[in-house]
Amino acid sequence: MVDRIGRDIRYLRLSVTGACNLRCRYCMPAGGDCGENQRDQLTADQIEEIVAVAIKLGLDKIRITGGEPLLREDILDIVGRVGRLAGLRELCMTTNGILLAEYAGALREAGVNRVNVSLDTLNPGRYREMTGGGTLDQALRGIDAAESAGIVPVRINVVLMGGVNDREIVEFVHLTRDRVIDVRFIELMPIGEGGGRNAAHFISGDIVLDTCPELMPINQSTEDVAQFYQLPDGMGRVGLITPISRPFCGRCNRVRVTADGKLKPCLHGGEEISLVGLSGAVLEETMRAVIFEKPKGHCLGSDRPGENRRNMYQIGG
Ligand code: 5AD
Ligand code: SF4
Repeated sequence: MVDRIGRDIRYLRLSVTGACNLRCRYCMPAGGDCGENQRDQLTADQIEEIVAVAIKLGLDKIRITGGEPLLREDILDIVGRVGRLAGLRELCMTTNGILLAEYAGALREAGVNRVNVSLDTLNPGRYREMTGGGTLDQALRGIDAAESAGIVPVRINVVLMGGVNDREIVEFVHLTRDRVIDVRFIELMPIGEGGGRNAAHFISGDIVLDTCPELMPINQSTEDVAQFYQLPDGMGRVGLITPISRPFCGRCNRVRVTADGKLKPCLHGGEEISLVGLSGAVLEETMRAVIFEKPKGHCLGSDRPGENRRNMYQIGG
């Protein structure tokens, strides 16, 4: 549906849990626990109804996020139900990949056409350190499994952090040479743990082009917030997502639902409207009104937070 400033809102990102099996430094607070989120999380019935209404309003691309969505015991039920809804064009999932090897085939069967795997380093020791104990090999096996299951191209999301993973840019870019994989570099946003001390790690997405001048721009899809590039002999693509250095609010076509059922028209805004307990025409009218009034944009800087008061694991990126 078209919002009040003419953006065609087609994309719903829905977090199904605030729980995560990793503890990335810029996302999870130290000792962070998601017990509360767990208690308040939407049921599969509520999720199905919210997505059905979203589709009715013209949002035909749905992304299931977390926390880590594969931690939900009923994730295949949820994905299956959403995947069966008429009018859905794209069903995507964002995951850290740790459990993906186990689930890839079933997700494909349930109708998932795309997975984004969050992976900020290709170094096992650094991975363990950055994720609070994660095993890189599991995430890599998850990516392979998604590829074998036919969910291609797999997308890898890399949050750029100066002094942490900027020396790995070439290695990440080279993954796209021989594999049909999209690697997308994302600027660190001052959200939750990404603010404060961590904000000092911000580097602009331009560093990717400075580091790999052989990358050639390729056609920009109007629907994507990423700008895409390709190596001259590359099979996959390299994307840049630059919310800070080049905000894309004018092209933003997405809204979010948090694990506890709040509709967030803007990631960086403070506005949240609870959908819990609403159904039928009331649910539809509430969603329509909130989406129509989606804020024009944000005024974020690399260390200037917006009005959003949540951490990323509660929103799903
Ligand atoms: N800035 C940018 N991306 C972030 N993510 C989590 N926190 C931040 C942040 N402060 C990313 C994760 C994952 C997605 C869900 O959001 O790395 O790719
Ligand atoms: Fe979209 Fe809001 Fe993010 Fe801008 S700040 S890109 S409008 S979600």
